[in-house]
Order: sequence, then C-alpha cells, then structure tokens
Amino acid sequence: MQDYREFLSEILISEEQLQARIAELGEQISRDYANQDLLLVCILRGGVLFLTDLMRQIAVPHAIDFMAVSSYGIGARQSSGQARINLDINTDIRDRNVLLVEDIVDSGYTLEAVLSLLKTRRPKTLRTCVLLDKTERREIDIPVDYVGFTIPNIFVFGYGLDIDEHYRNLPFIGVIDLKKYKAL
Ligand code: PRP
Repeated sequence: MQDYREFLSEILISEEQLQARIAELGEQISRDYANQDLLLVCILRGGVLFLTDLMRQIAVPHAIDFMAVSSYGIGARQSSGQARINLDINTDIRDRNVLLVEDIVDSGYTLEAVLSLLKTRRPKTLRTCVLLDKTERREIDIPVDYVGFTIPNIFVFGYGLDIDEHYRNLPFIGVIDLKKYKAL
C-alpha cells in the first residue's frame, strides 16, 4: 500500500479540530442524558474511532454495542443507496435510550436501515450522532441529532474512513487526490 502522503491533497479536519469538537459533543450528550440510561450503538467499521474517543468524553455511565452494515451496489467509493445489516447488537433495547454513533452520513440509507430495524424493538428514545454530514448527497430525510462537521461532497479518508479498507487509523480527516492514488 502507498504511504498516504503520496495522495493526500489536504487535511480537511485536523486531529486537534476533531478532538475539540468531539469533546463538545461529549459535553452536550452528557448534559442531555444526565441521570438517564444510555446505550451507544456504534456502526462498524467506520464509526469505531469516533466511538472510542466520544465515549471518553461522555461523563454519564453508559453501555456500548456494535452493528455492522454494508452499503452495496454501484462501487466501492460511493455508497449505493442500499444497506444490509451484517451484524446485529446483542443488547435488548426495549425502553432504553439508544444513541447511534456513525462516522459519516452520505445518502442516509445506512442510518435509515438501522433506525427502521431498531425502532421495531421499542426503545425509549432513538437518536443519531454523526461525525461527518455530507448534506449535499442526502437522498432520504433522516434525523441527525448530533453532528460533528458538515462537509462538502468530496472523497475523505482517515479517522475511521477507509480507502480500500486501509488508512482508517489516521488521526485526521484527509482529502484524497485520486490522480495520485494507485488503486489496489
Ligand atoms: C460508510 C459509512 C456509513 C455509510 C454512509 O460505510 O461508514 O456507514 O457508508 O453512507 P450512506 O449514508 O450513503 O448510507 P461503509 O458501507 O463504507 O462501511 P465501513 O463503515 O465499514 O467503511
């Protein structure tokens, strides 16, 4: 695999900016869920870095669980408007406060699929926390309750977001120069 520096065109959101905003989100969530039960449900794989940083900024006691959802159809670099649940949570969410934690919302179909499924299980509340919101690409209206950053319609990677399943570990959100990236 290439070193990311060969195809990074710019850092869109730095590590410092990410961590500062995540701390703010954590404070807001801690206020909103004060003295309440809370279950964070992370959508794999992209949401995993965001979850682990966010939960360290949430002061109220909470549980975590995971779901895996894949979008499929038109190609690897853009989501397709269809989503399939590959891994479900183990937790009984009836009458619980559930907060979905996701790295990015694009068309909205991934969150829509998860929200539709979890709603059938009668949680007390069901909300969404998304680090990056590509509002320009939204195809269906879904509620996003907590947003880290609204970003333009450009191909970003790092901090959970992959290119061909790599580079998720980078601590910032970068923009790819597709002309310089050598696809696998
Ligand atoms: C990405 C991202 C979101 C979804 C957003 O997941 O992590 O889950 O696409 O797109 P949408 O709003 O158009 O549905 P991906 O399927 O690439 O899986 P990953 O998280 O494992 O990388």
